Amino acid sequence: MGKWWQETVFYEIYMPSFKDGNGDGIGDFKGLREKIPYLAELGIGGVWLTPFYPSPKVDNGYDVSDYYAVDSDFGTMADLEAFIAEANAYGIRVIADMVVNHVSTEHAWFQEARLARDSPKRDWFVWQDTPNNWESFFGGAAWEWDALTEQYYYHSFAKEQVDLNWRNEEVVREIWNVFDFWLDKGLDGFRLDVINNLTLTRNFPDNPVDVNGEQVHIFDKDQPGMDLKMAEIGAYIREQGDYFTVGEISSDKLSDIEKYAGNDGLDVTFNFNFGSVTSRDGIVAELSRMQEVYADGRMPTLFFGSHDMSRSWNRLADGREEVAQMLAMLMLTAHGVPFVYFGEELGMADFVPDSVDAMRDVRGIYAYDLELAAGRTADEALKVAQDKTRDKARAPMWWPEGFSQGATWIGEVPPDFERGRRMFAFYQALIALRKTTDFCEHGYQSFDVDGTLLTYVRGDYLVCLNFGETHEMRNRWGDLTEILANQTIVFDVKTVKLPENAAVIFKVGK
Ligand code: NOJ
Ligand code: CA
Repeated sequence: MGKWWQETVFYEIYMPSFKDGNGDGIGDFKGLREKIPYLAELGIGGVWLTPFYPSPKVDNGYDVSDYYAVDSDFGTMADLEAFIAEANAYGIRVIADMVVNHVSTEHAWFQEARLARDSPKRDWFVWQDTPNNWESFFGGAAWEWDALTEQYYYHSFAKEQVDLNWRNEEVVREIWNVFDFWLDKGLDGFRLDVINNLTLTRNFPDNPVDVNGEQVHIFDKDQPGMDLKMAEIGAYIREQGDYFTVGEISSDKLSDIEKYAGNDGLDVTFNFNFGSVTSRDGIVAELSRMQEVYADGRMPTLFFGSHDMSRSWNRLADGREEVAQMLAMLMLTAHGVPFVYFGEELGMADFVPDSVDAMRDVRGIYAYDLELAAGRTADEALKVAQDKTRDKARAPMWWPEGFSQGATWIGEVPPDFERGRRMFAFYQALIALRKTTDFCEHGYQSFDVDGTLLTYVRGDYLVCLNFGETHEMRNRWGDLTEILANQTIVFDVKTVKLPENAAVIFKVGK
């Protein structure tokens, strides 16, 4: 038997947007706890909570100011513990985001470090007298002048998110304490934020710039020693017990992504070249590459949404239910660990802020300011910001009774409950099927791509996904029984006719 996480469907909960329990317009543990029966009904086995630690929320919690507490917006430590206990009672495990590449500039460690060049915490961060050309991943310079001690500190994201120096052994030991603290609270593992970005170097060569004038992030991630550091992190957590680690790797190259997954690294890593693509065209090709790379028994991750990208309903499904269902079938039946993004199981759509005032995401607001500074008009700047803002996927969950009794922290998207019911039923049936069949115990017995048609066999099941126009194929499997389909499929012993965007699972007879 494999590890528990190899059979688990995870569900990402964006903390501020899932369910408000106290009427202040922000999601919290009280609300979350009320919705555990919903999650159990859907059938998921694990939730990933985005950061709930105290934070000034420049980047909505990805700027942690205290690693050992719960932000009062989300409730108390007791609320979190009650949530974990109840989720576990429903058979749901809980993993949490761990943001250990950087801390908030309001964190006590940085407050102490910035006081003097000989502060005991000085070396916990990365300082330079002269900055190189590195840009932050949100745009703009990655170095910020700190007037008191007249040096620049390094921040790979917003200037309020200062990078930790992972060469410093005290930092590493402190982070082990952080891991221990949360595992003792009953968490089942971690999602490690931008974990290949850890600063390990003392050399700061300029990054190259491409023909479009865009910086190519080469030297500011995957630094020398990163493989060993990843192995050390993975090993440390594994030593503590039967925990699960998933790494967010800031790269879109499968070779960079897969090398950190497995026994010499974290359990699994996210592949953004699969999950965050902007059209359906590349999906089948990338999945083919994944099944080759992971044929050695390790597992890829499967997802089409997160809090950092536009919702798959708009980005990949063009607002069409049968396409959204086809993607769901792929995600929940292919070989890998699936991550459903909250609301995706209802066909939730993007929220596009119509002004910069309605924008909440630091990345969108940064983009707006940078465009204005570059001489663009307010309208032009807004368009760029609307494209870049991650607010799109952060609007509140569609609950029949509403998300909150009060005014929500971010704009809402009008719900379509009929669509939600149909989508939910489809997801639920797929997740249930995984439990009654042997999907999870097998890799692929066969995996075939014929143009835009993808077919694979796992155990006794044949999955057909038609990414193109109506397709008729020879029935090579003989005795087929349809188990679940998103459209009407016509088949007999000789042929199978699949309409455009059809997705079907057959049981294959002997
Ligand atoms: C990745 C997170 O998913 C994103 O939301 C955040 O802004 C960056 N890491 C920085 O922590
Ligand atoms: Ca609240």
